[in-house]
Amino acid sequence: MCGIVAYTGKRNAQQILVEGLRKLEYRGYDSSGVCIQVGEKLNLVRAKGKLVELDNALKTAPVTGNVGIGHTRWATHGAPSVANAHPHTSEDGKFAVVHNGIIENYSIIKAVLEKEGVVFRSETDTEVIVHLVSKFYKALPNGGGKPGDLAKAVSEALTHLEGAFGIVVVSAHEPGVLVGARRGSPLVLGVGENELFLASDVAPIVEHTQKVVYLDDNDMVVLNGTYKITNQANAEVRREVQNIEFSAEEVARGNFPHFMLKEIFEQPNTVLNSLRGRVLPDGTAKLQGLNLVTQELRSIQRIIIAACGTSFYAGKVGEYLIEELSGIPVEVEYASEFRYRNPIITDRTLVFVISQSGETADTLAALREAKQKGATVLGICNVVGSSIARETDGGVYLHAGPEIGVASTKAFTSQVTVLTLIALLLGRMRRTSPDEGMKICKALNKIPDQIKEILQLNDQIKSIAKEIKDHTNFLFLGRGYNYPVAMEGALKLKEISYIHAEGYPAAEMKHGPIALIDSNMPTVVIAPSDGLFDKVLSNMQEVKARGGKIIAITDAEANLGKLADWTIIIPKTMHMLTPLLSVVPLQLLAYHVAVMRGCDVDTPRNLAKSVTVE
Ligand code: G6P
Repeated sequence: MCGIVAYTGKRNAQQILVEGLRKLEYRGYDSSGVCIQVGEKLNLVRAKGKLVELDNALKTAPVTGNVGIGHTRWATHGAPSVANAHPHTSEDGKFAVVHNGIIENYSIIKAVLEKEGVVFRSETDTEVIVHLVSKFYKALPNGGGKPGDLAKAVSEALTHLEGAFGIVVVSAHEPGVLVGARRGSPLVLGVGENELFLASDVAPIVEHTQKVVYLDDNDMVVLNGTYKITNQANAEVRREVQNIEFSAEEVARGNFPHFMLKEIFEQPNTVLNSLRGRVLPDGTAKLQGLNLVTQELRSIQRIIIAACGTSFYAGKVGEYLIEELSGIPVEVEYASEFRYRNPIITDRTLVFVISQSGETADTLAALREAKQKGATVLGICNVVGSSIARETDGGVYLHAGPEIGVASTKAFTSQVTVLTLIALLLGRMRRTSPDEGMKICKALNKIPDQIKEILQLNDQIKSIAKEIKDHTNFLFLGRGYNYPVAMEGALKLKEISYIHAEGYPAAEMKHGPIALIDSNMPTVVIAPSDGLFDKVLSNMQEVKARGGKIIAITDAEANLGKLADWTIIIPKTMHMLTPLLSVVPLQLLAYHVAVMRGCDVDTPRNLAKSVTVE
């Protein structure tokens, strides 16, 4: 959460920072701010609320300078307000910092600094950083203005900080210089022609340069015309300059009104990209990044999947797939729970962590905990070079391209695609026959075109949304492979339309939720014509008998009779692959309901795309 961006070069920093923050707004939007160096002065402009407020303030009173830092905030310590907005400055206004993460020992540092006479102006944990930097700068033998001191002061301040941070510091004493550092939160360096960038991810950088350096934990980088990276021991280190895989257009919205809709419509391609080169003609999968030899894969006795949010639901689909195809027992855990209990891990336990962003704090902590206990940990991530991708022993990238909409859509279908390939690979080493494997591969290859067919139902789904949008409670039901999809459908609706929705295994409805059903509570039922079809029909009867309205997602072969008030027909596939199709109408339904209710689809209240705090 929180996005940071910084620029030093020859161009107008204000414009680059604001445009950069626009790309990072999905990380938080409680307030935003910039601090631009103009000669030996720092100019601070901050605003509460979405970026448009800052943009307006800067349009009224532009700041011209070539060096600056910017921030978009997701509030942790202190309410959304101008005083709590970043950048935070030292008392003399000569130093400013932007920060993403949490300083866990800030109250201890704050108490010490207050004793020394420092007057704090915000309720944030971040403010201690800038006061520490200012204090150490002044205390250094060459303090007061000599180049190089800022880096030393930041480095000294870092030794006092506990917790997670990605920071960038600028000082009026050192024109043209920026100092960045990271521990636990991401920070990427962009290397352009005569200009350098720092940002929480590559989205704000890609339109200026394709060359980036992913900083390692405990790296500090000084930007001063050129750049120098040092590690925790203050030794200079070289980090590989990498090429960003995607283009600036991919992080632009194009003709779509929202990123979420664009990303839903990208799914035929993103699923194809997740499959590309990984499906083999003999009915198995090739996943080179796993870094495990066949022998190691054969010896696995148990699998644990840890994830949060949408990635967790993809993991639940993965559990069913892996157990069915390979017979290996799988447990799926919320990463936040996994990290704080004492999970049983042996050297034959394989742990998968799933994360679109690769930065979710709880998932990262679960990964570290599993490694600590001796497990092999593999990642399923979308963001290349992210913390989780780097800390795992191996893994599989989604190749879904940047996902900007806060509510995850294309990442889910790509995660399920990758999990299907993993299940296939493990299954073919155990109990899945070549024939069955080939059948699955054939069906998988058809999925992108089948998603295209579903997308053509957009207008129908929009008209259903119009009729149901004013209800305040929804139930989502599914069985087997579609139980996790029911939960994902409910999550989508909650996240972006603020409607209360619950996802349930269809049969479980009679143990509680059925008490809620009346004509005011529509039920969305996922009912493909698989082995559980008749059972789901009975569950629908139970809803109907209580006057409930039903929106059914089914395939052409099913006959729902008159049970559903609205029916959305999706193409037929193997039952284990239905989540890849059945989730798409649910994404569109949530999208249209949210738009019709006037909700801010891409940046829903209180949420952030990348949750880098506990
Ligand atoms: C946040 C986002 C969700 C996402 C979850 C896990 O809550 O709003 O859309 O599913 O984090 O994110 P990850 O990047 O780890 O998949």
